Amino acid sequence: MSDTGPGEAHDTIDALLDEQRTFPPADDFVEQALVAGTFLYDEARQDDEGFWARQAADLVDWSQEWDTILDWQLPYANWFGGGTLNVAHNCLDRHVEAGKGDKVAFHWEGEPGDTRTITYRDLLDEVSQFANVLKGLGVEQGDRVNIYLPMIPEAAVAMLACARIGAPHSVVFGGFSSQSLADRINDAEAKVLITADGGYRRGEVFPLKPAADEACDASPTIDHVVVVKRGGNDVTMVEDRDHWYHELMDGASTDCPAEPMDAEHLLFLLYTSGTTGKPKGIMHTTGGYLTHATFTHRYVFDLHPDTDVFWCTADVGWITGHSYIVYGPLSNGCTQVMYEGVPNHPGNDRFWELVEKYGVTIFYTAPTAIRTFMKWGADEPAKHDLSSLRVLGTVGEPINPEAWMWYHEHIGGGRCPIVDTWWQTETGGIMISPLPGATTTKPGSATFPLPGISAEVVDDAGESVDVGGGYLTLTRPWPGMLRGIWGDPERYEETYWSRFPGRYFAGDGAKLDEDGYLWLLGRVDDVMNVSGHRISTTEVESALVSHPAVAEAAVVGATDATTGQAVIAYVILRGGEEVDGEALRAHVAAEIGAIAKPKQVYITPELPKTRSGKIMRRLLRDVAEGRNIGDTTTLADSSMFAELQAKAAAATED
Ligand code: PRX
Repeated sequence: MSDTGPGEAHDTIDALLDEQRTFPPADDFVEQALVAGTFLYDEARQDDEGFWARQAADLVDWSQEWDTILDWQLPYANWFGGGTLNVAHNCLDRHVEAGKGDKVAFHWEGEPGDTRTITYRDLLDEVSQFANVLKGLGVEQGDRVNIYLPMIPEAAVAMLACARIGAPHSVVFGGFSSQSLADRINDAEAKVLITADGGYRRGEVFPLKPAADEACDASPTIDHVVVVKRGGNDVTMVEDRDHWYHELMDGASTDCPAEPMDAEHLLFLLYTSGTTGKPKGIMHTTGGYLTHATFTHRYVFDLHPDTDVFWCTADVGWITGHSYIVYGPLSNGCTQVMYEGVPNHPGNDRFWELVEKYGVTIFYTAPTAIRTFMKWGADEPAKHDLSSLRVLGTVGEPINPEAWMWYHEHIGGGRCPIVDTWWQTETGGIMISPLPGATTTKPGSATFPLPGISAEVVDDAGESVDVGGGYLTLTRPWPGMLRGIWGDPERYEETYWSRFPGRYFAGDGAKLDEDGYLWLLGRVDDVMNVSGHRISTTEVESALVSHPAVAEAAVVGATDATTGQAVIAYVILRGGEEVDGEALRAHVAAEIGAIAKPKQVYITPELPKTRSGKIMRRLLRDVAEGRNIGDTTTLADSSMFAELQAKAAAATED
C-alpha cells in the first residue's frame, strides 16, 4: 500500500454529501423501463449464480450449453464450463439470421465529415472476409493479433474477425508511442499487427504506420502487418511483411463459419497500467465476458434495441470501447454512432451536431469531457435539438456534482436519468451504477452494485464498513472478471487478492453514506487517472529516467479542474547536464504516448525523502496543488521545499 489513503478525499466528499439532492426516475421513464422496482436485485440476491445463468441463457446464443455455471477456486473463476459459443456469431450472424440484416449497426462519421453507414449484413460480410484474410496470413485459434488503429469501422471489424476465428486480440490505443506498442506486442508475442497509414485528429492526419514500423523493428514475433488506408499519408511498405487491407479484402470470401469456442477461451488481452513500470495484460474470456457486457449494456442504459441509437464516445483502444462500442451493443443488436475525431473540430458543438444528426437516444461519455463542455459554455449544446436523448451515462472517474448537474440540465434537458458507471479494465463491464428506471440518483454517487454484483467497503483491517470511508472490494466472482494477467499469475494474485484475503481489491477508495449510496473517491495506489485514463506514476518515472540527462524522477497526480488529475513531475538532473522541462515532456510523449506527458516538469536539486529513502509523494502532491506543507520533520532534507513551492505557485498562476 502506498502513502495515500482514501482519507485524503474525504473533505471534498463530505462537502458533496451535504447537498443531498436526489433524482428519482420520472414516471414516464419508469413506465417504459426494462427494470423498475427491485425485482432484479431481489432475484440476484437470492442466488447470484442462478441469476447470471439466466442472463447467459436469455441474452446470449450458445452452441453448446454449459455443465457448470461457476467453478470458483479463489482467485480463479471458470464461468459456464463446458459451454461453447462464438462471440462474432452473437454480435452479427444471429441478428442477420433474425431478419435484421438491413438494420444499421454503425453510423460512422469521420472527423473531416465523410460518413459510412454499415448494416449488420455489411458488417457480417466484412468481418467474415477479414477473418479469412487473417487465416490466409497464418493466424490460427489461440494466436495473438495486435490492433493499432484510429476510430474507424475497421477497428471493430478486426476485433470481431479475431473473435470469429478464436484469435485473441490485443488493441493498443492509437495515441500510444511505438515503444508502448512494441512492449505490448512483445509481451503478447503477437503474430500479426493491424494498423493504418494514419487517422484524422483536430483537422490533421496523424501518422500511425511509422510508429508501427518502429515497433515491428523491436518485435520479432510479427510476421505480417495489415495496413488500412485512411489518412492517405505516405507510408513505406515492407515487402512480404506489409499488406494493404483493401488489397487483401479484394476477392476474400464472405464465407467463414463462426467456430464455437470454449466459454473460457481467451477473447482478448488489454494492457493497463499498474503500480509498476510494466503494463499488465488483462485477460478476458468468451462466455462470461459476453454475458456481462450484453447484460450491463442492456439494463444499465435501459436499451430498447429496436428504437435506440447508442453513442459511446470512448476509443476502441480502451476497455470502454471494447465493452460498449463493440461487444455489448453489437451483441444487443442495436444501432450506434461511431465518431473518429475530437469534440472540437470543426467547432465546439461537433458532438451535439452528431446527436441531432443521428437522433442519438443514449449518450455515454467521461466526466473530463463534460467539464470541457462546461468550459466551452451551454450555448454550444443549445445550438442543437437534443430532444432525442433519453439516457446519459458517465465513466472513467468520479463525476463532481457540478458537472453532473450541468450534464443533467444542458445535455439532458432536465429529463434524462444519468447513470454514473463505476468499473475497470479488470472488471470487463459495469459493476456499480444506477439502473435508470429503478434507482433514485444523487449527483456524484455511482449509487449501488448492479444485480449479481457484490461490493463492500472495508477499513484498513479488512472489516466491512457500513457508513463511512474505506477501500472498495468485490466479494463475489462475476462473469466479466479478468481471468488473470497474461504470463504473470503471481502478479495477478498479489495485485488484486492479497491486500484483503478472499476479496478482490479494486485499488479505489470509496465511501458509503447513511442511505447506503457508494461514492467513489479515486485511486489509493500510485496510479493516476488523467482524463479517465490510467497512468502509472512509475511508468512515467521510468520514461523520465531513460532520458540521458535525468538522474532521478518522482511523479504525482495533482488535482486538475478539467482532466481530474494532471501528471506533475519532479526531476533531478545528472551533474553537468542541462535540459528544459519541455524537452522532458516531449521525451515522455515519445516513450509512452501523449496522454502521459506531464503537465509540469520541475527541475529540482533534491526530492523529499524519508530517512529510509522513500520519496514522500504526498508532500509532492501538496506542493503541486499549492497546499501548505505541514510537518516535514521526517524529511531527510526539507530545504528545497521553499523553492519548489514557489515554482508550483508560479505555474498555477500561469
Ligand atoms: O479509479 C476508478 C476509475 O477508473 C479506474 C479504472 O480505470 P480503467 O481500467 O482505465 O477503466 C476505465 C473505464 C471503465 C477505476 O479503478 N473509475 C472508472 N469509472 C469510475 C471511476 N471512478 C469513479 N467513478 C466512476 N464511475
